[in-house]
Amino acid sequence: MPTATHAPWGTSPDGPVERHTLTNERGNSIHVLNYGATIQSIRIDDQEMVLGYTSIDGYLSKYPYYGALVGRYGNRIAGARFTLDGTTYQLDANENGNQLHGGSVGFNRKLWTVEPSTTDDAAILTLSYTSPDGEMGFPGTLAVTCTYRWTNDDALHIHYTATTNRDTIVNLTNHSYFSLGGGGGSVLDQVLYLDADRYTPVNKQQIPTGENESVAGTPFDFRTPKAVGQDIEADYPQIQLARGYDHNFVLNGYDGSLREFALLTDPVSGRRLRCFTTEPGVQLFTTNFRPGEFTVNDGAPIEPHTGICLETQHFPDSPNQPNFATPVLKVGDTYNTTTVYRFE
Ligand code: GAL
Repeated sequence: MPTATHAPWGTSPDGPVERHTLTNERGNSIHVLNYGATIQSIRIDDQEMVLGYTSIDGYLSKYPYYGALVGRYGNRIAGARFTLDGTTYQLDANENGNQLHGGSVGFNRKLWTVEPSTTDDAAILTLSYTSPDGEMGFPGTLAVTCTYRWTNDDALHIHYTATTNRDTIVNLTNHSYFSLGGGGGSVLDQVLYLDADRYTPVNKQQIPTGENESVAGTPFDFRTPKAVGQDIEADYPQIQLARGYDHNFVLNGYDGSLREFALLTDPVSGRRLRCFTTEPGVQLFTTNFRPGEFTVNDGAPIEPHTGICLETQHFPDSPNQPNFATPVLKVGDTYNTTTVYRFE
């Protein structure tokens, strides 16, 4: 039988932190914090599959969202401002006058209520948080739930729901940095397939220009699997400005159903990660940090290109982009998205 256990894991400004452990029948487990609904660790065959910290201190510091639930709005909103039904909302700006990942105190810095449960085929956590009207500038009291279901076949099913009492926008994602090699070493040899004919180029502040550019003949073409490092230093302006990949890909065949969109393979171990989502986009981020910019594990500096993020999402800055669909949540409707990461 799968099991769900938990233990104290320090304190945050809002109260005690707990670490939940979901273990499947194979003995593989995921560890989740009530702080930020954070996936702190994924252990497969005693190897660590994601980047994170070994104690709460790292998560309380300025950190790059390791494993966090990002909200209310994943990625950037230009000018930290958007207009909905004729009203302009000024949001909390936390990067170059723009908003990144929901603002300075996003969902990744909140304490979530956690309810563990198990079934024959999975260990489950249901996490909930109610974001007050106006938090980080967003309209509406937003009641959010996130379910992490860790199945016996090593699949992590992430399911988000949200309801509001005023029309608003919402775009939730998970910010895990996958490291299939296990040691937290370079991911440049890992091979990625992405089912995306197009991606959305960005300006110097990493705000989309509004175009959907074809990946054909560019470093962004992962339609035939290739090593993540193959073109990561290409003399190509979009690669240069992000120091690697930090872009939204337009997933082929989006129709709101759960579709397979990516396959990441570690050629050394043979381990694979299959990715599925109901969302139209994915942010491929290859951990392009400058030396000394962030830490990892017990606070050691993080080396560049040691993790791969596949953040499923609606497109960045979509509230301000006429060409992009905006995830508006209306009163009475339920936001409902699913992403699955399956290890093989
Ligand atoms: C990504 C974003 C990057 C960086 C990272 C967190 O989603 O696109 O530019 O901000 O999150 O450090």
